[in-house]
Amino acid sequence: MTSVANALEQHRAAHLEELKELLRIPSISSLSEHTQDVRRCAEWLAAALERAGLEHVRVLPTEGHPVVYADWLHAGGERPTVLIYGHYDVQPVDPLELWHSPPFEPEVRDGRLYARGAVDDKGQLFVHIKAVEALLRETRSLPVNVRFLVEGEEEVGSAHLEDFIERNRDLLAADVAVISDTSLFAPDVPSITYGLRGLVYLQVDVRGPSSDLHSGSYGGSVANPAEALARIIAGLKDERGRVTVPGFYDRVRDLEEHEREQWRSLPFDEAAYTRELGVEELYGEEGYSTLERLWARPTLEVNGIWGGFIGEGSKTVLPAEAHAKISSRLVPNQDPDEIARLLAEHIERTAPRGVRVEVRRMHGGRPAVVPPDHPAMEAASRAVERGFGKSPVLIREGGSIPVVASFEVLLGAPTLLVGFGLPEGNAHAPNEWLLLDHFYAGIRTSVALLEELGRVELVTAGAGPKG
Ligand code: BES
Ligand code: MN
Ligand code: MN
Repeated sequence: MTSVANALEQHRAAHLEELKELLRIPSISSLSEHTQDVRRCAEWLAAALERAGLEHVRVLPTEGHPVVYADWLHAGGERPTVLIYGHYDVQPVDPLELWHSPPFEPEVRDGRLYARGAVDDKGQLFVHIKAVEALLRETRSLPVNVRFLVEGEEEVGSAHLEDFIERNRDLLAADVAVISDTSLFAPDVPSITYGLRGLVYLQVDVRGPSSDLHSGSYGGSVANPAEALARIIAGLKDERGRVTVPGFYDRVRDLEEHEREQWRSLPFDEAAYTRELGVEELYGEEGYSTLERLWARPTLEVNGIWGGFIGEGSKTVLPAEAHAKISSRLVPNQDPDEIARLLAEHIERTAPRGVRVEVRRMHGGRPAVVPPDHPAMEAASRAVERGFGKSPVLIREGGSIPVVASFEVLLGAPTLLVGFGLPEGNAHAPNEWLLLDHFYAGIRTSVALLEELGRVELVTAGAGPKG
């Protein structure tokens, strides 16, 4: 066993205790009462990066929550520079009563570490800090130049990150980015993700009469905003599960036959999937398999809908307004700005008469794909094989990490999505968990990845470390 591998074995318990400390900080980015906790979390991470032996550790302000930066750039200009990204903010925890242990009191049960942020994304980010620390302690060096960029606003749409990257291109210059914020295909099927969907998020406000009305005195004489909203939403898809908005599919890149074939060979058990979700049958766009619908087809979903009377008993009322949150997952080469415009125009155009409809755009992000034959992908594949003892499958996922597209556009760097979570790990839900075996395999994989990346020709003009 190498001294690094040995050190990782020795420090298993300590690594877990340290991660628990990070998980105790309630860094919920969307709730203003947690602003100080978010800041404390950034500072905790800065200290952890410092202890790991990184240099130039800084907590940098943005218009929103701070960014944490650190680097180690002594591998030499001929070695690649790797930008490791993660997010230290987490989602809210409600409904709190459904948690079996408190969300910010991490607890191990059945080999799983339960806490908000265990998998999304503190646990996965921490993997890389421990890998770099072990390499620096045991070898006094790293096989590549490394920069860390850790943000505190991913769960609220990374509103200030693109600006930050643009203003700090030199500080962030890299040949390849690494993100662990995705999943394995299944517990014993390690995976590398080469595609993510993008996102457009809208709020639709439908307004009618200037106040709620008695539905007996007025019902039948004016348009009902709740009904108008229902009609608008129902009209957005046809009976084949396809979005009816003109132009919506125009830029969608078709799946390649070899991709479809490779996905068909993945160990996907449709019956088990149906059972786990508690539905009678699956539903989606006609003509595509479940994995194709999840990974390569755009969607339109109602995230929430409200308005009118929802209290106890009954109240005969004609509501003055109704609202919905609607979002669309995007695939290559759809453009979030264009899809937002198409959706808004279509909704406004198809609005029933007698109501006013306003469509407001919230956050979003571009879809991303990494070429599976990129030399860095092959290095990642060897690293996962070393870390998990099994070669990975190539998958895409349906979620979104908008910064991947920003790295490509602003830094010219492809992103390796090497995830250690599981789809069933309850990210964003009560009882979020990370499998401890995957945490430790993740640290081994990260060590191997830095070593493997140190062996490939990646250095591109303009990237690489400064000084
Ligand atoms: N880690 C997820 C992204 C993800 C989810 C990747 C599922 C792969 C599978 C990330 O923290 C997240 O939740 N992203 C949001 C994006 C949004 C807030 C812009 C998402 O996908 O909803
Ligand atoms: Mn995440
Ligand atoms: Mn998330």
